[in-house]
Amino acid sequence: MPPPRSRSRSRSVRRPPAARPRAAATPRASAARPTALDDRFFRQIVAGMRNGVLAIFRDGRLALINDEAYRIFGLARQPGDLGRPFAEVLRDQADIVRVLSSVFDLTTLPNRAELRLKGSQRVIGYTLSLVRDEAEQVTGAALFFKDLTRVEQIEERERLRDRLAAVGEMAAAIAHEVKNPLAGIEVMAGVLRRQMDDASEAHTVLGDIITEAKMANAIVQEVLEFVRPIRLQVDRTTIGAAVDAAVTFAENKSRRGEVAVEVSVPPNLPDLHADYYQLTQLFTNLLTNAFEALGGQGRVRIAARAVHLDHGAPDAAPREAVVVEIADDGPGMSAELIDRVFNPFFTTKPQGSGLGLAIVRKIVDAHDGRIDLESAPGRGTTVRVTLPVTGDDHDVHQ
Ligand SMILES: Nc1ncnc2c1ncn2[C@@H]1O[C@H](COP(=O)(O)OP(=O)(O)OP(=O)(O)O)[C@@H](O)[C@H]1O
Ligand SMILES: [Mg+2]
Repeated sequence: MPPPRSRSRSRSVRRPPAARPRAAATPRASAARPTALDDRFFRQIVAGMRNGVLAIFRDGRLALINDEAYRIFGLARQPGDLGRPFAEVLRDQADIVRVLSSVFDLTTLPNRAELRLKGSQRVIGYTLSLVRDEAEQVTGAALFFKDLTRVEQIEERERLRDRLAAVGEMAAAIAHEVKNPLAGIEVMAGVLRRQMDDASEAHTVLGDIITEAKMANAIVQEVLEFVRPIRLQVDRTTIGAAVDAAVTFAENKSRRGEVAVEVSVPPNLPDLHADYYQLTQLFTNLLTNAFEALGGQGRVRIAARAVHLDHGAPDAAPREAVVVEIADDGPGMSAELIDRVFNPFFTTKPQGSGLGLAIVRKIVDAHDGRIDLESAPGRGTTVRVTLPVTGDDHDVHQ
């Protein structure tokens, strides 16, 4: 039987580090390297971690918080933060305060739980643990967390892609089947109409049949276009030009009426490596929705600006991007509506196909961008499209 391990060789993490200075020393450790897990070394580990780390004492004072935690919370480090009640330092992060406030009362602590931070909409994955002293008394709690926003977006995109693939296959099959009979109806109605007396009631009815068949055919074409995978023709694309073309297209597609359109695209915006035609379609669909929502009265504002995207990864360089906002002061949308509007074929309009926003999302995804909707009943709708200046090659998928 092997001899019982001497306690002095144990590397329990709960032991105060200063009391066992040689615990981690290896025979090969040179004099220049740290030879002990001293306090400073522990602090450096925490400071350099790519996870957010935050610890509180039992009485609610903040014991430790690293740079990544500040970054994720969007806070600037203040000299007096440590030692202050954590609820004060994190007062803008109500969810985190709630999680930490209950930590000493819970019997099971959350492990790899997820949380969406209200203000920033960042998603974090977090684990809570208790800090105990040598006598197993709880002296504090620690929160370890990681910014999952980017991971979430990728997962969401994949989920949508799967869903679109399934819906798309079925829609494409139906559209193909319907295309030929529809064309037949249109042609035969035309033949019949030519044989009718211009003034007859049948002539008018046949005219209506042809119009309806044409409309159904347009929907079929839209469906087929939607399910076809996007092949980007990437070129230097000026946002201003795509937006201007989209305003004209949208005016032709739907009734603008008295709606005031205000375009503010600064001339010094960087050009995008993007598909001009697709971007024009993207903005056309958004503007068409805005015009339709306004019903001939109101205002649409289109504003673009350059931004630097934060990757959600502390060591990745920020990425240049352009944000285009299309805001209308129309009726807005409820939260339930917002959840569904990107679904293919979801529409609240009698003549809508419900593909406008699904196509928008597809184009945004193909450009590795993102789209956010801000809307509330009676408060108008703002759609924010963020497009990276360069394509996927600069991307960091974690
Ligand atoms: N700016 C907006 N204001 C209010 N509601 C909107 C706005 N944009 C979209 N919606 C809602 O989202 C739904 C889906 O929009 P989407 O563009 O995908 O389809 P659609 O406009 O109904 O039909 P299609 O664009 O295919 O003709 C709309 O039916 C409408 O209810
Ligand atoms: Mg639409």
